[in-house]
Amino acid sequence: MCVLITGGASGLGGAMTRRFASAGDYKIYFTFNNSSEKAAQIEKEFPCTEGISCDFTDPKSLDHLLGRMGEMNLDILVNNALTGMRTKHFHQSDPAEFLASFNENVMPTLRITQQAIKEFRKKKYGRIITVLTSYLTNCPPVGLSEYVANKAYLLSLSRSWAGENARFNVTSNCVSPSMMKTSLTSHLDERQIEDIANGNPLKRLVTPEEVSDAVFFLARASQQINGVNLLINGGADVA
Ligand SMILES: NC(=O)c1ccc[n+]([C@@H]2O[C@H](COP(=O)([O-])OP(=O)(O)OC[C@H]3O[C@@H](n4cnc5c(N)ncnc54)[C@H](OP(=O)(O)O)[C@@H]3O)[C@@H](O)[C@H]2O)c1
Repeated sequence: MCVLITGGASGLGGAMTRRFASAGDYKIYFTFNNSSEKAAQIEKEFPCTEGISCDFTDPKSLDHLLGRMGEMNLDILVNNALTGMRTKHFHQSDPAEFLASFNENVMPTLRITQQAIKEFRKKKYGRIITVLTSYLTNCPPVGLSEYVANKAYLLSLSRSWAGENARFNVTSNCVSPSMMKTSLTSHLDERQIEDIANGNPLKRLVTPEEVSDAVFFLARASQQINGVNLLINGGADVA
């Protein structure tokens, strides 16, 4: 089985690459942008992995990845990479920032998935897993409208991918984790982290390894599990 994980050298993506690599029966392609050292370390540790440099903000770099996808014989695509999360009140945001963020995050994910689906339909097998956020389920935190709106767009696309490709044994599912400690959240201080952890019934944050287990499950799940968005937040909404 061949897997492509975008942003698979660091943060949640790094944990997912290691999760698949530890299983032993996968060839894993992962993209990285700044984390070239982490990518090299993963390749050294797991010979079944190959890192590919890809910057979503650079059209040539994205084209290079798309060009290579034809030779990967992919079975599984994990959409994980994110170029950043701007925090700004909606009324203070420049509409151009929304467009730029959409172009940097949604469009590359859309193009990579389109390429993968073409291959999946030919081989009549494919698993697409897209990483979203638990903020989609409740009132989004103040200042994150751009981030959450992009994720909502991907959720909608993911459902269309599920419906349009079900008869080709291609499924499309999502995971929506609550906060994890990664570089994305490194700007938060200990007190803020404690507050967020206290909002989880387990009184701790979700870990990248726990999310990786869920992604791994969806990657191996039957065709009957399709169009699902798996919320990973310790039951914060029901407990
Ligand atoms: N952390 C959380 O609390 C949380 C909660 C819910 C959902 N998520 C989601 O989890 C996913 C991973 O986020 P994370 O928490 O692991 O954050 P992260 O550590 O900031 O990871 C972001 C990933 O995207 C890659 N990336 C950054 N800029 C890029 C660019 N210009 N082109 C291509 N790739 C780029 C990074 O690669 P390099 O390191 O190589 O630059 C990195 O692997 C995201 O989709 C995020 O929305 C995170």
